[in-house]
Amino acid sequence: MAATRTIIAPSILASDFARLGEEVAAIEAAGADWVHVDVMDGHFVPNITLGPDIVKALRPHAKIPFDVHLMISPADPYLEAFREAGADYISVHPEAGPHLNRTLKQIRKLGAKAGVVFNPSTDPSVIQWMMDEVNLILVMSINPGFGGQTFMHSQLRKIEALRKMIDAEGRDIPLEVDGGVTPETAKLCIAAGATALVAGTAVFRGGPERYAANIAALRG
Ligand code: DX5
Ligand code: ZN
Repeated sequence: MAATRTIIAPSILASDFARLGEEVAAIEAAGADWVHVDVMDGHFVPNITLGPDIVKALRPHAKIPFDVHLMISPADPYLEAFREAGADYISVHPEAGPHLNRTLKQIRKLGAKAGVVFNPSTDPSVIQWMMDEVNLILVMSINPGFGGQTFMHSQLRKIEALRKMIDAEGRDIPLEVDGGVTPETAKLCIAAGATALVAGTAVFRGGPERYAANIAALRG
């Protein structure tokens, strides 16, 4: 695999929610490639975060892509609102609705890039017959719902399997990992074939003066 610069997507779940706009601007200035936005509904996952109005309010605070991770069910009724709010990537879990292919098509029709997220127990074979509808693959290395959890090493094999699937088809799909990413686990993810890393705790710890160093440490 060609050595490309790893995409770093700080998760604003770990930021100071009272200063969200400034936090988004600060991570962009610190070298972040994408802003990762965790949307939770208290139903698909046992936590509640934010909705499209907050994404819309944050959008002018940075130019880098917004990587919106939907942990909501159903997701379909909200895709348009997130796209209109400024989401560049919209990712859904296969378990969030009965027709993953239809959902991805709808995201792409709205002009966003469509991502699929795999929980630790989810088999990635669901995308095998529709790789041309997939613009981003996200492997959860924790159970979704909360930041600050411990990286599950069992997911490294899944990253390797997905790397093979992507390469076998000669596709240029970012392979992103989310959960418990630290400078140490980042190395393992990259070695397994990941090209994008989400990190909340590891980016926001220490406050704004640490963001650039924290992001650089994840690139290895
Ligand atoms: C959890 C979210 C993650 C979370 C990662 O459901 O999808 O993006 O913010 O947080 P850390 O990096 O602290 O594990
Ligand atoms: Zn996430």
